[in-house]
Amino acid sequence: MGGHPIPSDPRGRPIGVFDSGVGGLTVLHELLVRLPHEDFLYLGDTARFPYGERQPAEIERFSAEIAEELLRRRAKLLVVACNSATSAALPSLNRRMMQTTLGLDVLGVVRPEALRAVATTRSGRIGLLATPTTVASRAYEEAVLAIDPHVTLHAVPCPGLAAIIQAGEQFDERAVETVREACVPLHEADCDTVILGCTHYPLIQPMLQRMLGPRVTLVSSGAALARQVEHALSTRDLRNPRVGEGDYRFLCTGDAEAFHELGTRFLQMPLGPVEHVELAAVEVPA
Ligand code: DGL
Repeated sequence: MGGHPIPSDPRGRPIGVFDSGVGGLTVLHELLVRLPHEDFLYLGDTARFPYGERQPAEIERFSAEIAEELLRRRAKLLVVACNSATSAALPSLNRRMMQTTLGLDVLGVVRPEALRAVATTRSGRIGLLATPTTVASRAYEEAVLAIDPHVTLHAVPCPGLAAIIQAGEQFDERAVETVREACVPLHEADCDTVILGCTHYPLIQPMLQRMLGPRVTLVSSGAALARQVEHALSTRDLRNPRVGEGDYRFLCTGDAEAFHELGTRFLQMPLGPVEHVELAAVEVPA
Protein backbone atom coordinates (compact mmCIF):
# COMPACT_ATOMS: atom_id res chain seq x y z
CA MET A 1 0.00 0.00 0.00
CA GLY A 2 3.07 2.24 0.15
CA GLY A 3 2.82 5.38 -1.97
CA HIS A 4 -0.98 5.32 -1.96
CA PRO A 5 -2.29 7.42 0.95
CA ILE A 6 -5.94 6.72 1.73
CA PRO A 7 -8.18 9.74 1.13
CA SER A 8 -10.47 10.68 4.00
CA ASP A 9 -13.25 11.59 1.53
CA PRO A 10 -14.86 8.20 0.76
CA ARG A 11 -15.44 9.28 -2.84
CA GLY A 12 -11.67 9.28 -3.40
CA ARG A 13 -11.25 5.64 -2.32
CA PRO A 14 -10.82 2.82 -4.84
CA ILE A 15 -13.46 0.37 -6.00
CA GLY A 16 -12.40 -3.13 -4.93
CA VAL A 17 -12.79 -5.78 -7.63
CA PHE A 18 -12.01 -9.48 -7.22
CA ASP A 19 -11.97 -12.73 -9.11
CA SER A 20 -10.61 -16.26 -8.90
CA GLY A 21 -7.73 -15.13 -11.11
CA VAL A 22 -7.22 -13.08 -14.25
CA GLY A 23 -10.67 -13.68 -15.80
CA GLY A 24 -12.25 -10.78 -13.93
CA LEU A 25 -9.97 -8.48 -15.89
CA THR A 26 -12.49 -8.73 -18.74
CA VAL A 27 -14.96 -7.18 -16.29
CA LEU A 28 -12.44 -4.62 -15.05
CA HIS A 29 -11.88 -3.65 -18.69
CA GLU A 30 -15.53 -2.56 -18.96
CA LEU A 31 -15.36 -0.75 -15.62
CA LEU A 32 -12.26 1.18 -16.74
CA VAL A 33 -13.99 2.21 -19.95
CA ARG A 34 -17.27 3.22 -18.31
CA LEU A 35 -15.82 4.84 -15.18
CA PRO A 36 -12.54 6.50 -16.20
CA HIS A 37 -12.40 8.84 -13.18
CA GLU A 38 -12.42 6.05 -10.60
CA ASP A 39 -9.49 4.26 -8.96
CA PHE A 40 -9.63 0.46 -8.94
CA LEU A 41 -7.94 -2.14 -6.79
CA TYR A 42 -8.17 -5.61 -8.33
CA LEU A 43 -7.41 -8.82 -6.46
CA GLY A 44 -7.00 -12.10 -8.36
CA ASP A 45 -6.93 -15.27 -6.25
CA THR A 46 -4.61 -16.94 -8.74
CA ALA A 47 -3.16 -19.34 -6.12
CA ARG A 48 -6.60 -20.99 -5.80
CA PHE A 49 -7.86 -20.71 -9.41
CA PRO A 50 -10.15 -22.21 -10.66
CA TYR A 51 -13.23 -21.73 -8.47
CA GLY A 52 -15.63 -23.22 -11.00
CA GLU A 53 -15.64 -26.78 -9.69
CA ARG A 54 -15.28 -26.04 -5.98
CA GLN A 55 -17.89 -26.41 -3.22
CA PRO A 56 -19.92 -23.26 -2.43
CA ALA A 57 -18.80 -23.25 1.24
CA GLU A 58 -15.17 -23.11 0.17
CA ILE A 59 -15.83 -20.26 -2.27
CA GLU A 60 -17.73 -18.41 0.48
CA ARG A 61 -14.66 -18.61 2.71
CA PHE A 62 -12.25 -17.53 -0.05
CA SER A 63 -14.52 -14.61 -0.96
CA ALA A 64 -14.75 -13.50 2.69
CA GLU A 65 -10.95 -13.53 2.99
CA ILE A 66 -10.57 -11.42 -0.15
CA ALA A 67 -13.31 -9.01 0.92
CA GLU A 68 -11.60 -8.46 4.28
CA GLU A 69 -8.34 -7.62 2.49
CA LEU A 70 -10.04 -5.13 0.18
CA LEU A 71 -11.90 -3.65 3.11
CA ARG A 72 -8.59 -3.23 4.97
CA ARG A 73 -7.36 -1.32 1.95
CA ARG A 74 -10.40 0.93 2.27
CA ALA A 75 -12.39 0.03 -0.83
CA LYS A 76 -15.58 2.12 -1.11
CA LEU A 77 -17.55 -0.54 -3.00
CA LEU A 78 -16.92 -4.23 -3.66
CA VAL A 79 -17.42 -5.79 -7.09
CA VAL A 80 -17.41 -9.56 -7.43
CA ALA A 81 -16.07 -9.91 -10.98
CA CYS A 82 -16.41 -13.69 -10.95
CA ASN A 83 -19.52 -15.61 -11.87
CA SER A 84 -18.66 -18.63 -9.70
CA ALA A 85 -18.00 -16.45 -6.63
CA THR A 86 -21.14 -14.37 -7.25
CA SER A 87 -23.28 -17.50 -7.59
CA ALA A 88 -21.85 -19.20 -4.52
CA ALA A 89 -21.07 -16.35 -2.16
CA LEU A 90 -22.88 -13.08 -2.92
CA PRO A 91 -25.63 -13.37 -0.26
CA SER A 92 -23.20 -14.34 2.53
CA LEU A 93 -20.71 -11.71 1.45
CA ASN A 94 -23.42 -9.06 1.48
CA ARG A 95 -24.42 -10.02 5.01
CA ARG A 96 -20.81 -9.95 6.16
CA MET A 97 -19.97 -6.58 4.60
CA MET A 98 -23.16 -4.94 5.86
CA GLN A 99 -22.00 -5.72 9.38
CA THR A 100 -18.75 -3.79 8.93
CA THR A 101 -18.49 -0.27 10.33
CA LEU A 102 -18.36 1.15 6.81
CA GLY A 103 -21.40 -0.87 5.64
CA LEU A 104 -19.71 -1.80 2.39
CA ASP A 105 -21.99 -2.65 -0.56
CA VAL A 106 -21.23 -5.69 -2.70
CA LEU A 107 -22.28 -6.02 -6.36
CA GLY A 108 -22.05 -9.21 -8.39
CA VAL A 109 -22.29 -10.18 -12.03
CA VAL A 110 -25.39 -12.42 -12.05
CA ARG A 111 -28.28 -9.97 -11.65
CA PRO A 112 -27.10 -7.35 -14.17
CA GLU A 113 -26.57 -10.07 -16.79
CA ALA A 114 -29.95 -11.64 -16.05
CA LEU A 115 -31.67 -8.26 -16.37
CA ARG A 116 -30.00 -7.58 -19.68
CA ALA A 117 -30.74 -11.05 -21.05
CA VAL A 118 -34.43 -10.85 -20.13
CA ALA A 119 -34.68 -7.41 -21.72
CA THR A 120 -33.01 -8.75 -24.88
CA THR A 121 -34.82 -12.03 -25.56
CA ARG A 122 -37.79 -12.07 -27.92
CA SER A 123 -38.47 -15.81 -27.82
CA GLY A 124 -38.24 -16.11 -24.02
CA ARG A 125 -35.56 -18.82 -24.36
CA ILE A 126 -32.24 -17.80 -22.84
CA GLY A 127 -29.10 -19.95 -22.82
CA LEU A 128 -26.37 -19.90 -20.19
CA LEU A 129 -22.78 -21.06 -20.54
CA ALA A 130 -20.99 -21.24 -17.18
CA THR A 131 -18.82 -23.27 -14.83
CA PRO A 132 -20.36 -26.34 -13.12
CA THR A 133 -20.45 -24.46 -9.77
CA THR A 134 -22.35 -21.54 -11.28
CA VAL A 135 -24.84 -23.81 -13.07
CA ALA A 136 -25.38 -25.97 -9.95
CA SER A 137 -26.10 -22.90 -7.81
CA ARG A 138 -29.16 -22.07 -9.97
CA ALA A 139 -28.38 -18.39 -9.26
CA TYR A 140 -29.13 -17.40 -12.88
CA GLU A 141 -32.44 -19.35 -12.91
CA GLU A 142 -33.52 -17.55 -9.75
CA ALA A 143 -32.46 -14.16 -11.08
CA VAL A 144 -34.18 -14.67 -14.45
CA LEU A 145 -37.38 -16.06 -12.91
CA ALA A 146 -37.56 -13.17 -10.44
CA ILE A 147 -37.54 -10.76 -13.39
CA ASP A 148 -39.92 -12.70 -15.66
CA PRO A 149 -41.35 -16.12 -14.71
CA HIS A 150 -42.32 -16.79 -18.36
CA VAL A 151 -38.72 -16.93 -19.53
CA THR A 152 -36.89 -20.26 -19.57
CA LEU A 153 -33.18 -20.68 -18.97
CA HIS A 154 -31.20 -23.47 -20.64
CA ALA A 155 -28.02 -23.84 -18.61
CA VAL A 156 -24.96 -25.64 -20.00
CA PRO A 157 -22.07 -26.39 -17.63
CA CYS A 158 -18.67 -26.17 -19.34
CA PRO A 159 -16.20 -28.01 -17.09
CA GLY A 160 -12.62 -27.01 -17.74
CA LEU A 161 -13.35 -24.41 -20.40
CA ALA A 162 -12.05 -21.45 -18.35
CA ALA A 163 -8.82 -23.29 -17.62
CA ILE A 164 -8.43 -24.26 -21.31
CA ILE A 165 -8.87 -20.62 -22.38
CA GLN A 166 -6.42 -19.49 -19.72
CA ALA A 167 -3.77 -22.14 -20.30
CA GLY A 168 -3.54 -22.04 -24.05
CA GLU A 169 -4.62 -20.07 -27.00
CA GLN A 170 -8.33 -19.33 -26.92
CA PHE A 171 -8.71 -20.85 -30.36
CA ASP A 172 -6.76 -24.09 -29.97
CA GLU A 173 -8.34 -27.39 -30.94
CA ARG A 174 -9.46 -28.35 -27.44
CA ALA A 175 -11.14 -25.00 -26.94
CA VAL A 176 -12.91 -25.18 -30.30
CA GLU A 177 -14.21 -28.72 -29.62
CA THR A 178 -15.37 -27.85 -26.07
CA VAL A 179 -17.19 -24.75 -27.27
CA ARG A 180 -18.79 -26.59 -30.20
CA GLU A 181 -20.16 -29.23 -27.81
CA ALA A 182 -21.50 -26.58 -25.44
CA CYS A 183 -23.39 -24.93 -28.30
CA VAL A 184 -25.34 -28.11 -29.20
CA PRO A 185 -27.97 -27.85 -26.39
CA LEU A 186 -28.34 -24.13 -27.06
CA HIS A 187 -29.13 -24.84 -30.73
CA GLU A 188 -31.57 -27.60 -29.71
CA ALA A 189 -33.36 -25.26 -27.29
CA ASP A 190 -33.47 -22.56 -29.99
CA CYS A 191 -32.20 -19.82 -27.65
CA ASP A 192 -32.08 -16.29 -29.10
CA THR A 193 -30.00 -14.87 -26.23
CA VAL A 194 -27.02 -16.50 -24.52
CA ILE A 195 -25.44 -15.37 -21.25
CA LEU A 196 -21.67 -15.75 -21.03
CA GLY A 197 -21.71 -16.79 -17.38
CA CYS A 198 -17.95 -16.91 -16.85
CA THR A 199 -15.39 -14.14 -16.95
CA HIS A 200 -13.15 -16.05 -19.39
CA TYR A 201 -15.73 -16.50 -22.12
CA PRO A 202 -15.60 -12.96 -23.63
CA LEU A 203 -12.22 -14.05 -25.01
CA ILE A 204 -13.97 -16.62 -27.22
CA GLN A 205 -16.94 -14.38 -28.06
CA PRO A 206 -16.23 -14.18 -31.83
CA MET A 207 -15.97 -17.97 -32.08
CA LEU A 208 -19.15 -18.44 -30.05
CA GLN A 209 -21.01 -15.89 -32.15
CA ARG A 210 -20.00 -17.73 -35.33
CA MET A 211 -21.06 -21.12 -33.95
CA LEU A 212 -24.38 -19.85 -32.58
CA GLY A 213 -25.16 -17.71 -35.60
CA PRO A 214 -25.67 -13.97 -36.09
CA ARG A 215 -29.27 -13.94 -34.82
CA VAL A 216 -28.23 -14.93 -31.29
CA THR A 217 -27.37 -12.07 -28.90
CA LEU A 218 -24.52 -12.72 -26.47
CA VAL A 219 -24.65 -11.05 -23.05
CA SER A 220 -21.43 -10.81 -21.06
CA SER A 221 -20.82 -9.76 -17.47
CA GLY A 222 -18.71 -6.65 -17.88
CA ALA A 223 -20.90 -4.16 -19.69
CA ALA A 224 -24.06 -4.97 -17.75
CA LEU A 225 -22.26 -4.78 -14.42
CA ALA A 226 -20.42 -1.55 -15.23
CA ARG A 227 -23.77 0.16 -15.75
CA GLN A 228 -24.93 -1.05 -12.32
CA VAL A 229 -21.73 0.06 -10.61
CA GLU A 230 -22.14 3.52 -12.13
CA HIS A 231 -25.69 3.66 -10.79
CA ALA A 232 -24.63 2.43 -7.32
CA LEU A 233 -21.90 5.09 -7.07
CA SER A 234 -24.32 7.87 -7.98
CA THR A 235 -27.10 6.81 -5.63
CA ARG A 236 -24.63 6.46 -2.72
CA ASP A 237 -22.87 9.74 -3.55
CA LEU A 238 -19.62 7.84 -4.01
CA ARG A 239 -18.59 9.02 -7.49
CA ASN A 240 -15.01 10.22 -7.59
CA PRO A 241 -15.18 14.00 -8.25
CA ARG A 242 -11.83 14.13 -10.11
CA VAL A 243 -11.75 15.25 -13.73
CA GLY A 244 -8.82 13.23 -15.08
CA GLU A 245 -8.23 9.48 -15.27
CA GLY A 246 -8.00 7.36 -12.14
CA ASP A 247 -5.44 4.62 -11.59
CA TYR A 248 -5.76 0.86 -11.29
CA ARG A 249 -3.63 -1.50 -9.26
CA PHE A 250 -3.33 -5.24 -8.91
CA LEU A 251 -2.92 -7.78 -6.14
CA CYS A 252 -2.68 -11.53 -6.57
CA THR A 253 -2.28 -14.50 -4.27
CA GLY A 254 -0.07 -16.45 -6.71
CA ASP A 255 2.94 -15.52 -8.77
CA ALA A 256 2.94 -11.79 -9.57
CA GLU A 257 4.97 -12.14 -12.77
CA ALA A 258 2.67 -14.83 -14.19
CA PHE A 259 -0.32 -12.60 -13.38
CA HIS A 260 1.28 -9.74 -15.23
CA GLU A 261 1.98 -11.84 -18.30
CA LEU A 262 -1.48 -13.43 -18.49
CA GLY A 263 -3.32 -10.33 -17.34
CA THR A 264 -2.53 -8.17 -20.33
CA ARG A 265 -4.35 -10.63 -22.62
CA PHE A 266 -7.47 -10.44 -20.45
CA LEU A 267 -7.43 -6.70 -19.65
CA GLN A 268 -6.55 -5.56 -23.17
CA MET A 269 -4.94 -2.51 -21.61
CA PRO A 270 -1.52 -1.89 -20.12
CA LEU A 271 -1.05 -3.54 -16.73
CA GLY A 272 0.92 -1.75 -14.00
CA PRO A 273 2.88 -3.43 -11.23
CA VAL A 274 1.34 -6.44 -9.50
CA GLU A 275 1.74 -7.02 -5.77
CA HIS A 276 1.71 -10.50 -4.24
CA VAL A 277 -0.59 -10.70 -1.21
CA GLU A 278 -1.07 -13.34 1.51
CA LEU A 279 -4.69 -13.46 2.69
CA ALA A 280 -5.54 -13.85 6.37
CA ALA A 281 -7.82 -16.77 7.23
CA VAL A 282 -11.34 -15.82 8.39
CA GLU A 283 -14.24 -17.61 10.08
CA VAL A 284 -17.38 -17.97 8.01
CA PRO A 285 -20.56 -18.94 9.90
CA ALA A 286 -22.11 -22.15 8.54
N1 DGL B 1 -13.92 -16.12 -12.75
C1 DGL B 1 -14.36 -17.49 -12.85
C2 DGL B 1 -15.85 -17.49 -13.21
O1 DGL B 1 -16.33 -16.53 -13.77
C3 DGL B 1 -13.49 -18.19 -13.84
C4 DGL B 1 -13.59 -19.65 -13.79
C5 DGL B 1 -13.11 -20.35 -12.53
O2 DGL B 1 -12.52 -19.76 -11.63
O3 DGL B 1 -13.36 -21.56 -12.49
O4 DGL B 1 -16.54 -18.42 -12.96
